[in-house]
Amino acid sequence: MERTLILCWILLLCIPMAPVYGQYYSETVPYVPEPKKVTNLHFFFRGTVGGQNATATTVARANVTGNDNSSPFPPNSIVAHDAPLTAGLEPTSEIIGNAQGLEVFPGHDTTSVVVYLDFGFTKGDLNGSSIGVFSRNPATETERELAVVGGRGKFKLAKGFALLNTRFLSSSIVVVEYNVTVIH
Ligand SMILES: *[C@@H]1O[C@H](CO)[C@@H](O)[C@H](O)[C@H]1NC(C)=O
Ligand SMILES: *[C@@H]1O[C@H](CO)[C@@H](O)[C@H](O)[C@H]1NC(C)=O
Ligand SMILES: *[C@@H]1O[C@H](CO)[C@@H](O)[C@H](O)[C@H]1NC(C)=O
Ligand SMILES: *[C@@H]1O[C@H](CO)[C@@H](O)[C@H](O)[C@H]1NC(C)=O
Repeated sequence: MERTLILCWILLLCIPMAPVYGQYYSETVPYVPEPKKVTNLHFFFRGTVGGQNATATTVARANVTGNDNSSPFPPNSIVAHDAPLTAGLEPTSEIIGNAQGLEVFPGHDTTSVVVYLDFGFTKGDLNGSSIGVFSRNPATETERELAVVGGRGKFKLAKGFALLNTRFLSSSIVVVEYNVTVIH
């Protein structure tokens, strides 16, 4: 009996000392910055509202008295996006990536918008890379600026900004020109 107990204790004491792979792990070393590069990107965001090719869907909306819930982008709502990025302004222009994420209309009117979008590129050198935008978007202004807060692939640890210019707007289509400056 006593021998079994001792054996149990030995086992218990030894188990944590054995190398356990996949355990919680953390290591801190000095950060050695690499020389940074600046990349300028120019493309168009093509959004479609309604119909079979819609790129935006309202996924949540608050039941607030006075809300215009018939609007495609009602106040106090969250809209999910999956929209193509194109090389040019025309509908037939080559698709070079897509923007996926959310747009939040936090207030009682829809002039205040916050966007959380990942712009993923699928062509050429940038295939597999993306930039992350997390910013207010003063949507009613024709020219506006968004913050680029990170990225993947070539744009790891990126920081930057995007200058936006609405180039075409109808009841169902919006085409926004993006001029992005990324430091990475
Ligand atoms: C949706 O997209 C397809 C393929 O691009 C196109 O043929 C069709 O006309 C579009 N439908 C509408 C309603 O725009
Ligand atoms: C919205 O709120 C009103 C008032 O509280 C309620 O009567 C109505 O059923 C709600 N509608 C939905 C879809 O929850
Ligand atoms: C982009 O990368 C994906 C995955 O690596 C690959 O399947 C695809 O063919 C590439 N596309 C282009 C246009 O290079
Ligand atoms: C894009 O932005 C950069 C930096 O702000 C600027 O130098 C360049 O002229 C702009 N290009 C276009 C096409 O707007």
